[in-house]
This record gives sequence, C-alpha cells and structure tokens, in this order.
Amino acid sequence: MKTVTTLSELRAARPGLPEPVGFVPTMGYLHDGHLSLVRRAKEECASVVASIFVNPTQFGPGEDLSKYPRNLARDLRLLESVGVNLVWTPTPEVMYPSGFQTWVTVDELTKGLEGAMRPGHFRGMTTVVAKLFNAVQPHKAYFGQKDAQQAAVIRRMTKDLDFPVAIVVCPTVREADGLAMSSRNAYLNAEERQAATVLFRALSAAKTAFEEGERDAEKLRQVVRETVASEPLATLQYVSCADYETLQELERVERKALLSMAVFMGKTRLIDNFVLRC
Ligand code: PAJ
Repeated sequence: MKTVTTLSELRAARPGLPEPVGFVPTMGYLHDGHLSLVRRAKEECASVVASIFVNPTQFGPGEDLSKYPRNLARDLRLLESVGVNLVWTPTPEVMYPSGFQTWVTVDELTKGLEGAMRPGHFRGMTTVVAKLFNAVQPHKAYFGQKDAQQAAVIRRMTKDLDFPVAIVVCPTVREADGLAMSSRNAYLNAEERQAATVLFRALSAAKTAFEEGERDAEKLRQVVRETVASEPLATLQYVSCADYETLQELERVERKALLSMAVFMGKTRLIDNFVLRC
C-alpha cells in the first residue's frame, strides 16, 4: 500500500493503478463501517484508493473540527489489512491553498434535514468530494447509507456536473446492539453509549408500525419522538419521514421513504436512518 500527501504525488501514482479504480473518501478514525465500503470496492474494482482528510469546510463554527478524533497510524494499518492500494492524506493546505474561493453547491436537496441543522456543511462536503473526484478520477465511489442525505447530495452532484463516476451506496454497519458505527461514538461516555441505542430502538419501533400497515408519516414520526422521549439522556433534534429521492417531507408513505433522525446524547450529535420500502 502506497501513501501520498501532495496532489503531484497522487497524480504520479494514479496512472499505475489497475482499472477500474474504486474510491472510498473518509475523514479517518476508521471503523467497520468505513472498511465495509473498502471491502465492497475490492469486490467490484481492480484497485482501491482511500482518502483520509478531516475537511475543515464542512464543520460549522460550533462543531467538533479541532477535537475530531484522529489516529492515522491505526487507520493506515486497517486500510492495508483490507487491501487498499493507495491512500491519499492531503493536508488542509493541499486542499485549500491560499486564495481558494470556488465552491460546489447543491440547492434543493441540502435545504432540509442535516442541511437545515448544519448551515454550510453540505457546501464544504460537496466541494471537497468534487475535488477528490477530480484528483483521484475513480470509476466507482463508495458511500454509506448511514449518511443518507450526503449520499443523495453526492448522487445529484455527480449527475449534475457529469462526473464519470458510479456512486455506490452501501448499507449501514451497526454494533451488536444496533447503534450505527460512527467516529463520533468515541465521544460518548459509558452511560451515553448505552442510552445511544435509543436511535435504533426508535427507528425499529417506527418500522414495525410501518410494517403493520401504518402509512401516516406523522404517526411514524410520533413513534420516534415518543421512543426518544423515554430516554432521559437523549434529546431529539429532528425526525423526518421524507421521500427517498427528493427528501421532501411526506404526509403519507406511498413510495420509498427515508425515516431519519438526529439526537443529542449530551454534547454528542448522532444521526441514523432506516429506508421504508412500500
Ligand atoms: P466519514 O464520516 O469518515 O465517512 C466516510 C464514509 O463512511 C461515508 O460515506 C459514510 O457514510 C460512511 N460510513 C460512516 N459510518 C458508516 C456505517 N456505520 N456504515 C456504513 N458506512 C458508514 O462522510 C464523510 O466522512 C465525509 O463527509 C466525506 C464524504 C469523506 C467528505 O469529507
């Protein structure tokens, strides 16, 4: 496995990779969710590139950029163990040299949900992913369903800007008790970690109601609200039951839908979602 930092090193290494090239962008502090993306890319591609970059432009002023967990040595070991060919670890100066002033924005899809709670987040995310795509020139890129709106926004951007990249969205990987794996889980203390199962429990309860025939979106949101309210350490920030493609809130679930939520466990903000299939 080769590791590069600068753009010119990346550009020198890229032509030597067997094609098709799969790409897994990450912010590091890797867990099995990230590695599941690499494994899928290994199955489908002749070589795999991963990037590790804690992208400052997708963090808001009150967010956790400076304390975002990092462990590069461990990340590199993990990537090597799953057979990654090339790792790109750009610095902020490589990605955003002085004078940088060009942004990629996706309009409608970024207005609600995470976009409403985290102003500027998606502008930073789409900009860095566009730059990563331009530099790596992958044939396929792998994203997790865990960040459902991110995946939808990336699909839209890829289409709208004619990137010759197939976007593959992979299932959310969970801990044994249902908690979606996330680098941010590292912030939880033991009590919060246990209480954090409430996201999975709330989504599961709503999904059961859906499977028993409930199609009223507000009733499904209410199941989530009530389950979260039963957990004293958790504060619900939002719950959404939206059209899977447009992310517009639904009154009734009559086609594929996304049930998604954000919860504060103490100071830590966690998100999760289920897809509802009619
Ligand atoms: P990061 O949070 O490191 O996640 C990298 C990729 O791993 C994303 O596609 C995310 O959806 C996926 N992922 C995270 N947890 C997962 C889980 N439990 N199961 C399956 N996939 C999971 O998302 C980002 O970084 C950044 O926004 C990035 C796309 C790298 C741009 O900076």
